[in-house]
Amino acid sequence: MSHEIVEKNVGLMALMILIVISIGGLAEIVPLFFMKDTTEPVKGVERYSALRLEGRDIFIREGCNNCHSQMIRPFRAETERYGHYSVAGESVYDHPFLWGSKRTGPDLARVGGRYSDAWHFAHLYNPRDVVPASNMPAFTWLFENKLTGEDTAKKMKALNVVIGLTCPKCELYTEEDMKNAKAAVAGKTEAQALVAYLQGLGTAL
Ligand code: HEC
Repeated sequence: MSHEIVEKNVGLMALMILIVISIGGLAEIVPLFFMKDTTEPVKGVERYSALRLEGRDIFIREGCNNCHSQMIRPFRAETERYGHYSVAGESVYDHPFLWGSKRTGPDLARVGGRYSDAWHFAHLYNPRDVVPASNMPAFTWLFENKLTGEDTAKKMKALNVVIGLTCPKCELYTEEDMKNAKAAVAGKTEAQALVAYLQGLGTAL
């Protein structure tokens, strides 16, 4: 009888479906907020240095993440090629995270240390110089553009807010970090910042 009321009233049915699905969703999502695996940094994972922080922003600006994921899945084919699968505690300082799933190029979650800095510079300037069959675009302007460091401290301050909210065990940027940020990046090329970022990717595990 009462079932009939629900079946004959689309609005009510939609509402009840929504409630049921929300409960299912929350049961999966809410525990993640309290699990150490997802809220604590993996040993050795540190907040980004001023230069790496700028490098990460250049990575995002240039859309590198449109072709490169940073998420090694726990499958043999992946771990044999890229190394240990990615774990949540490695991404606690990443806002926004860059996991992705689109792989026109290889996953970069553990590219840090795989090549020399010189290889990366050559590759970014013209990928075909080091990988003849590559269809990755060249990023020549990164070698001309210089960082000023004007906003670096402000970025740290903003990140402190989100890191503080999501990761109680994470280390926030200190006053000193912010004071030294500008000097640490000013005058460096964007390519230098980007390569510093790449060379640290996934090296903690
Ligand atoms: C249009 C897609 C595309 C874009 C955009 C792109 N890449 Fe690539 N990338 C590739 C492809 C394809 C390869 C594999 C061939 C090669 O090594 O050049 C690659 C390879 C790489 C490698 C070597 C990875 C390895 O394990 O051998 C690095 C590092 C890299 N890209 C960094 C970047 C960075 C940094 C950016 C942004 C500035 C970027 N890529 C943008 C397609 C792309």
